[in-house]
Amino acid sequence: MQNHKRPPASILFIFGGSGDLNYRKLTPALYNLFLDEWMPEKFAIVGIGRSEYSAEDYRSHLQEGIQNFSRRKAEQNGHYQEFFDHVSYLQLDAGDLAAYQRIADCVQAKETEWGTHPNVIFYLAVAPQLVPTIAQELGTLNLCKDKGTTRIVIEKPFGHDLDSAHELNALLKGLFAEEQIFRIDHYLGKETVQNILALRFANALFEPTWNRHYIDHIQITAAESVGLEGRGGYYEHSGALRDMVQNHILQLLCMVAMEAPVSFDANEIRNKKVDVLNAIRPIRKEDVHDNAVRGQYAGGWMKGKQVVGYREEKDVDPDSNTETYAAVKFYIDNWRWEGVPFYVRTGKFMHQKSTHITIQFKQAPTFAFPAEAAESWRPNRLTISIQPEMDIRIRFQAKRPGQTMTLDPVNMTFNYEGSDDHTPEAYETLLLDVMEGDATLFMRGDQVEAAWKVIMPILDTWESRTPQDFPNYVPDSWGPEDADALIARDGHSWINLLTEKAK
Ligand code: BG6
Repeated sequence: MQNHKRPPASILFIFGGSGDLNYRKLTPALYNLFLDEWMPEKFAIVGIGRSEYSAEDYRSHLQEGIQNFSRRKAEQNGHYQEFFDHVSYLQLDAGDLAAYQRIADCVQAKETEWGTHPNVIFYLAVAPQLVPTIAQELGTLNLCKDKGTTRIVIEKPFGHDLDSAHELNALLKGLFAEEQIFRIDHYLGKETVQNILALRFANALFEPTWNRHYIDHIQITAAESVGLEGRGGYYEHSGALRDMVQNHILQLLCMVAMEAPVSFDANEIRNKKVDVLNAIRPIRKEDVHDNAVRGQYAGGWMKGKQVVGYREEKDVDPDSNTETYAAVKFYIDNWRWEGVPFYVRTGKFMHQKSTHITIQFKQAPTFAFPAEAAESWRPNRLTISIQPEMDIRIRFQAKRPGQTMTLDPVNMTFNYEGSDDHTPEAYETLLLDVMEGDATLFMRGDQVEAAWKVIMPILDTWESRTPQDFPNYVPDSWGPEDADALIARDGHSWINLLTEKAK
């Protein structure tokens, strides 16, 4: 028996219960929480979907998802029966307004059975256009007025632009209190992302140098080696800027750049993060060209496999101008960061999967050493690898052993111990937080809007100007040449971590 407090009795309704996210991520995450004894003593998971499933078929469908995607592989599983006793399926058309009463009845039945009023969690893992209807209908249920126990979880994308995000926020706020709304950004649930807070604020070592006086520039890379993975219908209307920069990358940037919180209270952390977003220098439309680069992949070869170009993908317009790569240079106009460029980039079909942050320090004065000593002199660099490597490395200069004073850059590395098996997946952390009512790792309404505000000038400019060079990069590369030029203009180059795991 684990020695930790479990969340209170909970019933989770998963809209999109027969969909991909539930199959790949949510059910495996809940299953792992169950194995680790983090699920409440009393819980029920109700998948909601339009498709027809018998209870038995539904469970074996989800069991297959666990076998394929759970961090604990099939042979380690077990306890299936025990877990699936808590899982059921409710066939319901989200547009059928009369059907929502069945949800309330279901809660009532559990309340009677358990003898306690449970947390009621509505997880909307559905296409974004369904979110308003479902939220609206749920909002009419009496049980949604219970601010303490009823919660609604919204997946990204949260809106399509600033106006639609604002509209969706207004709708949700008319129906739920802010503390009931959990807007997911799954990057915030990653262990290595949470560790940024520990690194920065639990150590005295970094804070004195964590500013414009010592830091030359910062890079954030979220490179993916996969392509569309059958999501053309969604991606075609999104693109890399909306899909990755507006949310995941800007959140990473906030973690790196935020001021120290005075407590780990959800609102305190979120206040500090939103301050960063509000301090990002707005990019004027006429400057977009100099500060942002977009790319789209052509057909080619990816690790020995032939792949089609973006425009040939299923559900994609053959003349599409949707970007599958984006690189942007930001400045944060505050005392800590004035003048320090933050270069961020993301792309599909990159040479390697690698998400990492590099803090490049300024060069130390080299005059005291003889010229030949400094031949391989490199400025200090702190690298935070988010995935697939999970480590933190500090590069510093050391004397090469021998009779001469020669310097070499060396790395000191902290590696997350143990196999990936033991590291909870982002969705485990986030689902547990929802059951516990802890919103620290979720986006507040104003954060989402502030992030949209940051990227709107780029989106607007790109939408109004047809790219002349698409497709402009090949699979298995590091993106378009213009992205190299973007950073080279400042005398820097992108740092690609060539790692074992990513090969
Ligand atoms: C999702 C995007 O939010 O994040 C996907 O919609 C992307 O396009 C994914 O592939 C990346 O997540 P991860 O956890 O694999 O880095």
